[in-house]
Parts: sequence; structure tokens; C-alpha cells
Amino acid sequence: METTLILLKPDALHRGLAGRILTRFEEKGLQMVGLKLMTMTQEIAAQHYAEHVERPFYKGLVEFMTCSPIMAIALRGPGAVAVSRSLMGKTFGNEADPGTIRGDFGNSRSYNLIHGSDSPESAERELGIFFPEGTEDWTPITAPWLWDTE
Ligand code: RTP
Ligand code: MG
Repeated sequence: METTLILLKPDALHRGLAGRILTRFEEKGLQMVGLKLMTMTQEIAAQHYAEHVERPFYKGLVEFMTCSPIMAIALRGPGAVAVSRSLMGKTFGNEADPGTIRGDFGNSRSYNLIHGSDSPESAERELGIFFPEGTEDWTPITAPWLWDTE
């Protein structure tokens, strides 16, 4: 069982897509164990995007991510990291396949609606940034059928 970090970026909230995007994950059978509406501080953005600090898009990315609230979501399930990345689609909306979140809802490169941890190690690090208090410990009553845990 894995937990991953999803961020709905400011464009998802401005465009009123948060509910529809969250629904994709719920429908897939991933379990919400953390949910938070918050504005990213410069400090949190610098921590979260530390790997990109030297990239030419870094400044614009941080400006965008801190401009208005985001929604931080912790999602749990078998293979939650990879399953979430496949639901999201390729990084840029204009390259993401139809049927994926980025492919269906956007056509932009910089404003791509959503972030998802790219490995279990990243997930652990990023969950520590956005949910330092930890996540909720609960089991959906449907868990055996959702996750083959029987
Ligand atoms: P994310 O971290 O947001 O889930 O996206 P990702 O793994 O698919 O992409 P990553 O390479 O980690 O890039 C992080 C975010 O930086 C912005 N970006 N802009 N203009 C550009 O060339 C460019 N490249 C990356 C995107 O917002 C991307 O999600
Ligand atoms: Mg990334």
C-alpha cells in the first residue's frame, strides 16, 4: 500500500475543476487520507521544487504555484504513486493523451492543473512537507473489493 501527494494547482481552482479532478481519483478507487486548501508559501515552494531550482522555468513555476490557493491531497491505495501519474497523463496538456486529467482538461504547457509525486521516495518527502501532522488512518468498507486485500 502506498500514499502519494497530489496538488491541484491554482489553475485547477480558478477554473472550477477541483471537484471533477478529485472525482477521477475517487472513481479509480484511491482513498483520500488528507485534504487541505492552502496557499503555498515561498518556503514551501522552494522545498517542494528543490530539484528544479536551476531550471529556466523555476521562477515562473514558483510564482504561479504561490499566486493563490492550491489543494493538497494525500491518496492511498496499491501502487498509488504510479496509478495517479497515469491518471494525470504527460506533463504538458498539449502532449497528454485524451482520457487523462491533463489531456482532457488543458492544452497549456506551464498551467498543467496538477502535481503528483513521481516515486514512492518523492511521495514520502512531499507528504512530509504538506502533511507534517500526518494523514488520516481509516479503511474504506469496500477495501477488499477495491484492493484485492481479501
Ligand atoms: P509535477 O511535478 O507538477 O507533477 O509535473 P511533472 O513531474 O510531470 O513535471 P516536472 O518535470 O517535475 O516539472 C514540474 C513542473 O514544472 C513545470 N514545467 N514547466 N515550461 C517548461 O518547460 C516546464 N517544464 C516543467 C510544470 O508545471 C511541471 O508540472
Ligand atoms: Mg515532477
